[in-house]
Amino acid sequence: MKALQIRQFGSAADVLEYVDREPLPLRNGMVRVKILASPINPADLNWIEGTYGTRPLLPDVPGTEAAGEVIESADASFAPGARVMLLSYAHGWQEQRIIPAAELLPLPPELSWADAAMLKVNPATAWRMLHDYAELTAGSVIVQNAANSGVGRCVIQLARICGWRTINFVRNPTVAEELREWGADVVCSDDESGKQEALAYLRKRDERAVLALNAVGGESAMRQFDLLADGAVQVTYGAMGRRPLSVPNKFLIFRDLTCRGFWLSRWLSQSSSEAIVSMYGKLIEWMLAGHLKQPVDGMVALSDYTHALERQYAPDRRGKVLFVPSA
Ligand SMILES: NC(=O)c1ccc[n+]([C@@H]2O[C@H](COP(=O)([O-])OP(=O)(O)OC[C@H]3O[C@@H](n4cnc5c(N)ncnc54)[C@H](OP(=O)(O)O)[C@@H]3O)[C@@H](O)[C@H]2O)c1
Repeated sequence: MKALQIRQFGSAADVLEYVDREPLPLRNGMVRVKILASPINPADLNWIEGTYGTRPLLPDVPGTEAAGEVIESADASFAPGARVMLLSYAHGWQEQRIIPAAELLPLPPELSWADAAMLKVNPATAWRMLHDYAELTAGSVIVQNAANSGVGRCVIQLARICGWRTINFVRNPTVAEELREWGADVVCSDDESGKQEALAYLRKRDERAVLALNAVGGESAMRQFDLLADGAVQVTYGAMGRRPLSVPNKFLIFRDLTCRGFWLSRWLSQSSSEAIVSMYGKLIEWMLAGHLKQPVDGMVALSDYTHALERQYAPDRRGKVLFVPSA
């Protein structure tokens, strides 16, 4: 079976290899899944570089999330033909994966493979950050950077579903109109003038944001503090700008702001299976109802991984790039 593999850490373009791997035999309690879609996420590129929160033993097949069809089962809970999402680290950039049945989430047939493959990470990250850090009430304001990202778009849509408002900072303001169509209340460029625009929106209503979501760091993260209410929380979940977070002392002393971090892997490893199944059930419902969408840039065969990486880094990328099995 075909797979994308790394034997050393480095930039994906340098170290990924398209290889043949021997399929392993099935043991009791395990299931063989034919992987039908697996996206490229920023975390995958960090994983391949060896800069992620955990490092795999090498050689390794990357791919944080994936969905597919059961083709062989040694566990009573899944029969061949079942559609599943891989809940643990997916190692998804390959044609097949053997995985314990307990690490699979059953999926309804109406969910597309693309939606199924993008369910685990970004929608859940947005949902947890919106629920676990601040008491949000009708009309509450959330501020976020990298708002056109996969997570950012999930935040916008989930906030709209729940009746909360979002102030969204983006590097490239040409996406503003599109994000408004997705439900964003305010879209500003991620710079000083954008911050002033956001402040003007809040001052007009005599209010402040109660939650800030930071995927960038550096100056972008610092700009969020001015928009927050006393006692509000900033949750950092990404480091796209590769600049450290620095917090001017005054925000801690006079405004009692709190800085927290979120990592979905930790939440998944610490939560009960009931909580996990219930959260994904709700997210799937919204996806099927068309309220929670994630854009796709393209579906690319594993064998065409150099093209997939080109699209991942292309300035005009319009959504996730997903790997699908080679023809
Ligand atoms: N902690 C967790 O559990 C968790 C879970 C999911 C995701 N994440 C993190 O969340 C972040 C977004 O993930 P995603 O899948 O939503 O990403 P994505 O859809 O690939 O979007 C990437 C976003 O990052 C922005 N960006 C790229 N380079 C940047 C830079 N140098 N400075 C500022 N912004 C930059 C992009 O803006 P442009 O469009 O302008 O390029 C875009 O908004 C990543 O850091 C990811 O690792 C964390």
